[in-house]
Amino acid sequence: MKRVLIATGGGDCPGLNAVIRAIVHRASQEGDWEVLGSIQAFNGILREPTEIVVLDNKRVAGIHFQGGTIIETTNKGGPFAWPVKDNNGVWTTDDRSDEMIRKIRHMHIDAVINIGGDGSQRISQRLFEKGLNIIGVPKTIDNDLSSTDSTFGFQTAVEIATEAVDKLVTTAASHNRVFVLEVMGRDTGWIALNAAVAGGAEVCLIPEIPYDIHKVKDALDKRFTNDRGFAVLVVSEGAHAKGQGLVTKVNNEIGYENVKLGGISRVLIQQLEELGFRHDMRETVLGHLQRGGVPIAYDRVLSAQFGVKAMEMAIAGDFGKMVAYHHPKFVAVPLAKAIAKPNLVTLDNALIRTAKGLGICLGY
Ligand code: F6P
Repeated sequence: MKRVLIATGGGDCPGLNAVIRAIVHRASQEGDWEVLGSIQAFNGILREPTEIVVLDNKRVAGIHFQGGTIIETTNKGGPFAWPVKDNNGVWTTDDRSDEMIRKIRHMHIDAVINIGGDGSQRISQRLFEKGLNIIGVPKTIDNDLSSTDSTFGFQTAVEIATEAVDKLVTTAASHNRVFVLEVMGRDTGWIALNAAVAGGAEVCLIPEIPYDIHKVKDALDKRFTNDRGFAVLVVSEGAHAKGQGLVTKVNNEIGYENVKLGGISRVLIQQLEELGFRHDMRETVLGHLQRGGVPIAYDRVLSAQFGVKAMEMAIAGDFGKMVAYHHPKFVAVPLAKAIAKPNLVTLDNALIRTAKGLGICLGY
């Protein structure tokens, strides 16, 4: 019997369960593969006693449309940075990667499939360099992984953000107000840009294009005549004004290495008020509503394709690679290439051109 271990790491994302189910179904066709799941990313392997579950067709029945991940996830710590308290009570980290690889081998696991975003795939690459038979599957609502046309979960997040724009437009128009919708997107503005185009927003501000507040105010002024008018702005959480830093929150979570973002929508409203913009303004922070819940059909299909391809790579012994969508094919790209650079929105991107063509102010 051969064994494949699945781990889901980083923030949860619509479609994770659909990938797990696809891996299990494809593995079951072989007859000689058992699928295991490590609870909470690699923590399940690292903990004593280990937290490993068997995943068979019965266990994954009907999970493809469930949000979250049945094997849980975490975006803290990991095999290279396991949080530990030293003798003085100060938190520090241990590299437990060698121990983890030993444990995986001891359990006769032949392949590992790590479903996660950029941080998780960096861990995959480092584990591969240490000799682990590992395959990556690109997950993130932010769509910030290059080497693949798309990551699963992204289109669901866009759908949720667009629905929010649609709802805010009606209240904005009824009250002659400005609404600022803050969406996820730490380093990239894909969710914001797609939702702004789909929802017909007037302004879209993204991390890749630091904004000029005067340009934003000019665009909003044009929307009002004799105090009547309305506008919707879609803003990535990682957006920031020219020459200014990110808007962040204090973070006291042990082992959490990301900068905790949030609050740019409020800051933007204050900046507009300081410039003398006097119309009513409200902010809505969409937050984790974009990550939970049912994946749309597109993401379920993409997840199923990623899962089947990942399992076929495991069967073929094609390790050190990430599954990627290169329309219309699903291919294997080296993990090193997949993590080499993020998938950022560039000024020459077709969607930027479209947004400009629609008259959306991008803050520059
Ligand atoms: O990476 C996806 C993402 O949704 C980012 O856009 C966001 O900054 C981050 O996750 C927040 O994650 P959490 O609040 O779960 O730590």
